[in-house]
Amino acid sequence: MSEITKAVIPVAGLGTRFLPATKATPKEMLPVVDKPAIQYVVEEAVGAGMHDILMVTGRNKHALENHFDRNCELELILETKGDTERLAAVTASTALADIHYTRQRDPRGLGHAVLCAASHVGDEPFAVLLGDDLIDARDPLLAQMQQVRRRHGGSVVALMRVDPKRSHLYGCAAVERDHGSDIVRVTDLVEKPAPGTAPSDLAVIGRYLLDPAVFEVLRRTPPGRGGEIQLTDALRTLAAEGHPVHGVVFSGRRYDTGDRAEYLRAVVQIAAGRSDLGPGFVDWLRSFVDRVPAPSSV
Ligand code: G1P
Repeated sequence: MSEITKAVIPVAGLGTRFLPATKATPKEMLPVVDKPAIQYVVEEAVGAGMHDILMVTGRNKHALENHFDRNCELELILETKGDTERLAAVTASTALADIHYTRQRDPRGLGHAVLCAASHVGDEPFAVLLGDDLIDARDPLLAQMQQVRRRHGGSVVALMRVDPKRSHLYGCAAVERDHGSDIVRVTDLVEKPAPGTAPSDLAVIGRYLLDPAVFEVLRRTPPGRGGEIQLTDALRTLAAEGHPVHGVVFSGRRYDTGDRAEYLRAVVQIAAGRSDLGPGFVDWLRSFVDRVPAPSSV
C-alpha cells in the first residue's frame, strides 16, 4: 500500500471566534509561544512523512504564504549580526516542506475546501489536517492513523471522547467496537448533531487520512449543516457504500486553537514543556496560581 505523502490544510476560515485579533491577521498566524499555530500543523504533517502540503486559502491569507517563504532582508540582517540562532528559526519554516497554495473562492464549507484540492492530490490517498486543531508533538497521532490505514485500507479519522454536552460542536461517529479499545470501525457520522442526538461520545477531531474516492462523493454531496458542503457527510456516504472508514480514538493532548480558552491552555502547556522556557515559566506559574484571586473577584 502506498504511503501518504500529500497533506491538505484548509485555512480559508475567517477566525470569527478570535476577533478582533483576526481582523487583519489570519487566525492560523496567532503565536503559540514563539511559532504561529500553523507551523505546528505543518511540522506534524512533515513528521509523519508528508512533505507535499497544499494549503487551501482564502482572502487576507498572504501572511501565511510569507511565513513559509524566504525573507531575504531579515536573513541578511541576522547574518550580518552573526545571530545564527534566530537565523535558523527564521529559515526553518522555509525549508520545512514543499508548500503549495490554492484559493477556495466561495466559503462553501470544509467538504468544498477539500474538493478544491482534487487536482493537486490526484488519484492517491492523502491527509487532511485542520489548522485549528493542534496535536501536541509528544503524542503522535498521524503515525497511529497510518498504521490503521496500512492494516485496514480505506479512510481513517481521528476521534476523541467528548462530554456529551459538547457533541453539537463536532462531527460525531457511530462505531462498531471490533478492533480493540482505541481502533474502531465507523458505521455512521453526523455533523454537529442537535443536543441529545449524538450517536456516541466520539467526536471527529481535525485529522483525516482519506481515500481519493472521497472526491467523487464530495462532488455529489449536497449542502448539509449550516448550508455548507460537509466532509463529515461525504465520509458518511463512503461508510454507507461499504468503503472502510476506521477511527483512532485519541487520548493525547489536543488543543482547539480557534477557541480562546483552549488557545491559552495550548500556550501554557507547550511553554511548560519547553526546555528553554519551561523550568522558569513553571516556577512562575506555580506562584501565580497561588496568588491569583478567584474569578468572581477579578
Ligand atoms: C470541523 C468538522 C467537524 C469536526 C471539527 C473538529 O468543524 O466539520 O466535523 O468535528 O472540525 O475540529 P469546525 O470546527 O470547522 O466547525
